[in-house]
Amino acid sequence: MSDQSQWNAVDQYFIDRLFTDDEALGAALRSSAAAGLPPINVSPNQGKLLWLLARMCGARRILEVGTLGGYSSIWMGRALPEDGKLITLESDPRHAAVATENIARAGLSKIVEVRLGPALDSLPVIESQKPGPFDLVFIDADKPSNADYFEWALKLTRPGSVIIVDNVVRNGAVVEANLDDPRVNGVHRLTEMLSRESRVSATAIQTVGTKGYDGFLIALVSDTIPPR
Ligand code: SAH
Ligand code: DHB
Ligand code: MG
Repeated sequence: MSDQSQWNAVDQYFIDRLFTDDEALGAALRSSAAAGLPPINVSPNQGKLLWLLARMCGARRILEVGTLGGYSSIWMGRALPEDGKLITLESDPRHAAVATENIARAGLSKIVEVRLGPALDSLPVIESQKPGPFDLVFIDADKPSNADYFEWALKLTRPGSVIIVDNVVRNGAVVEANLDDPRVNGVHRLTEMLSRESRVSATAIQTVGTKGYDGFLIALVSDTIPPR
């Protein structure tokens, strides 16, 4: 029977063999903890997955909703070319300040821009600035707004863009009749929306690891090829 301590050990097994030691990422987590930010950043293994997906889709422009201390921003920012751009949205000024420092320490200040404010205020501003389509969007902020963020992601992407949503499984809560948890409702609303949405092909993958039992939703925009 597998449990959390084994999931931790397995994550560590792969970290030890597949990644190089990283001062900026470690420092980002230490300074986030010292500033009292909650430890809800993606795990190192998940961060590497975001980096891989960004590289696999040749991303040049990335949008992130939910910065926290910038840990996932650093992973994805590193996948971009020198003239690439990552805009990350954060409503908490304390989180944004820690993230800005962490991003600078990682040498990514030119590529990664933290925009302070509720994402639903920042997204129309981004649209009005006509930034060109984002190649990859990572949605990882307040869960009740998932469907709204996804709608915005559709407006700000192009056919072939990839949209990833974190925390769609929540320890299996997604299939429990937990109608009063707005975070679970947020996942339901998103999934129901996608079940009727012809502009995306999507799946969700359950994961275990240092962040417990959870999962990602991964979507490809305007896929006209039927899956087989
Ligand atoms: N992506 C980060 C973790 C994000 S945690 C990482 O993996 O490193 C979720 C973040 O979303 C928190 O910092 C929280 O303050 C922020 N957030 C919550 N509601 C928000 C909103 N309405 N707009 C923007 N950010 C929000
Ligand atoms: C929480 C938020 C996250 O984005 C996450 O990955 C894990 C936990 C939370 O709000 O508890
Ligand atoms: Mg998350």
